[in-house]
Amino acid sequence: MSPLHVTRTLPEDATDAALRADVLHGLNVSPKSLPPKWFYDALGSELFEQITELPEYYPTRAEREILAARSGEIAAASGARTLIELGSGSSEKTRFLIDALTSLRSYVAVDVSESALTQAGQALVEERPRLDVHALIADFTAPLTLPDTPGPRLLAFLGGTIGNLLPAEREKFLASVRALLAPGDGLLLGTDLVKDERALVRAYDDAAGVTATFNKNVLAVVNRELGADFDPGAFDHVALWDAEQEWIEMRLRSRTAQTVKVPALDLAVHFAAGEELRTEVSAKFHREGVTAELAASGLELTHWWTDAESRFALSLSVLR
Ligand code: SAH
Ligand code: TRP
Repeated sequence: MSPLHVTRTLPEDATDAALRADVLHGLNVSPKSLPPKWFYDALGSELFEQITELPEYYPTRAEREILAARSGEIAAASGARTLIELGSGSSEKTRFLIDALTSLRSYVAVDVSESALTQAGQALVEERPRLDVHALIADFTAPLTLPDTPGPRLLAFLGGTIGNLLPAEREKFLASVRALLAPGDGLLLGTDLVKDERALVRAYDDAAGVTATFNKNVLAVVNRELGADFDPGAFDHVALWDAEQEWIEMRLRSRTAQTVKVPALDLAVHFAAGEELRTEVSAKFHREGVTAELAASGLELTHWWTDAESRFALSLSVLR
């Protein structure tokens, strides 16, 4: 069995400059906000896996349905010898692609969550002893240095995670993805689609409260890493649909007027009663918008597949 190749491009110390800068900025601007990548410590990754199994959270099941039906077509159009996956998490759905790609030699999983990466990577090394598996602990919004593996490459970005980037961030991200690709390489992109508002809100505000716990986990991360004294119980989970932007917005609403201390930043932050902290957006798409955003980055959408209920889409762009 070949070993798992683990590469770290993020600092070992999680109380790194990036978290400090993000918290310092996010808690000092109005409205307050924190970037979503800080949700995903070991507990956050575990909570996300629980979200994927909730009855209300359809995106994972819809995307799995498409992958189960279409991986053969995707593999035929791509012919990849290397599969790179950004924000790979558990790599659970990825197995459909790994099995369908008959020329596949290497799988490169990229994620900020070291626990999710090593767990998923170890399992794959054991299941597929002939596959060369790399776990790259890295931030996909920063420039990526990929291991030297054989082309053509298929770059997969699943789960609708692209929707967690703001429009300007998406543009920058797609341009950097385009720059990583050579002729014959492809991008496989999972996008959640605009649909009935109630179904969307339910997916981000489940009855069991798992998403609320996940949302509040970002406060626990700031407490642990920066010594802050956020009381997660003093905030309510809020999920709302912004019809103009066509995104779900996740917020934490302060139940009372309170001051939170962040000793590592020498900071005291005041929250008014009812004041909200934005923790994440999850944009939803139409085919036209996805096509246009890809085209603006020099990528031509060549295939578009949805689940039977047209809730979620996978698109493939192969570079000529
Ligand atoms: N692809 C999986 C997981 C989606 S959840 C699925 O479809 O189920 C989003 C994943 O992206 C998490 O594993 C999270 O740790 C990772 N992630 C979020 N922001 C990231 C960033 N900036 N860089 C790298 N990984 C990130
Ligand atoms: N990429 C997932 C999504 O946008 C992430 C996610 C699901 C999420 N549920 C969440 C993020 C709740 C924050 C809070 O669907």
